[in-house]
Amino acid sequence: MAKCMGLSVHQLPILAGICPCSSSYLVPRARAAGSVPISSKVDNKWKSGGRAPRRLILGLGVSFWAQLMNMSGAVGGKSFTASARLKSGPSFEEILKNVEWPEQFPFKPEDFQRFDESSDSVFYETPRFVTHIDDPAIAALTKYYSKVFPPSNTPGVSMLDMCSSWVSHFPPGYKQERIVGMGMNEEELKRNPVLTEYVVQDLNVNPKLPFEDNSFDVITNVVSVDYITKPLDVFKEMCRILKPGGLAIMSFSNRCFWTKAISIWTSTGDADHGLIVGAYFHYAGGFEPPQAVDISPNPGRSDPMYIVYSRKLSTV
Ligand SMILES: C[S@@+](CC[C@H](N)C(=O)[O-])C[C@H]1O[C@@H](n2cnc3c(N)ncnc32)[C@H](O)[C@@H]1O
Repeated sequence: MAKCMGLSVHQLPILAGICPCSSSYLVPRARAAGSVPISSKVDNKWKSGGRAPRRLILGLGVSFWAQLMNMSGAVGGKSFTASARLKSGPSFEEILKNVEWPEQFPFKPEDFQRFDESSDSVFYETPRFVTHIDDPAIAALTKYYSKVFPPSNTPGVSMLDMCSSWVSHFPPGYKQERIVGMGMNEEELKRNPVLTEYVVQDLNVNPKLPFEDNSFDVITNVVSVDYITKPLDVFKEMCRILKPGGLAIMSFSNRCFWTKAISIWTSTGDADHGLIVGAYFHYAGGFEPPQAVDISPNPGRSDPMYIVYSRKLSTV
């Protein structure tokens, strides 16, 4: 058992490598027209190779690693770099098993800084009617939702899709009395067919969710948890508005608008992301121990898709 981040896990969970999001941006594909332009160098790599290798570069966030080293006190006595280069590690699904969380939230303010600190309202003011993950990844997420969501049209069920856009990837024809979308672009939200209402709100400016306590059965957030700069505030709010036993599902792939993603995300890999989101649930409090699920449809051939979920404690 290795120790890291003050957490005891079966093995050091940080894998060598970095996600494509850290080297460029979100979905460098023709179908994602409207996405932020990719640099020509990266673009060529993608064109010639078809796909970027999943674990191409060793990219590590100094702050994150510094914390790992500081807090663990022991990573088998290995140097910073040697630890970082471990090639094997637990599967994504194991990443949140047997974690001994440090007493204090292990991240520092600089971990939540972004390369582009300008207003998110400006970045998202033009609608992007694109998809941010490929079709198999979307299908995998939709299939997962169909297994864990309450049946369509269940009386009294309310759902919230945070960081929503013109698509929520819910099962086809899925309906509930109340499905709220929160996001940054009104044009996108207006076009989202599954929503019964929407709210435009910059969570990085105002993390307070404008809803009553105990009012939602499910909260979803697709490929966007990495843009949240005040995650503890937001996750505490999620806990407040969930009904006891309510389910929060954070899903992500390995792509992002890297200038807008927090530095701890862009400087770490997929397994780390599971641990980071797990930490948000843990330190927000009021949630069951978070679980990690790998729903990647064709590992190595289409976009990976990961879930970290938890339920609000029924006693809260
Ligand atoms: C990559 S898109 C994902 C959209 C959608 N969930 C999907 O799966 O297609 C990122 C989304 O995060 C939301 N977002 C980014 N920064 C935000 C912020 N500061 N406050 C609230 N939402 C934000 C935007 O509305 C944007 O639609």
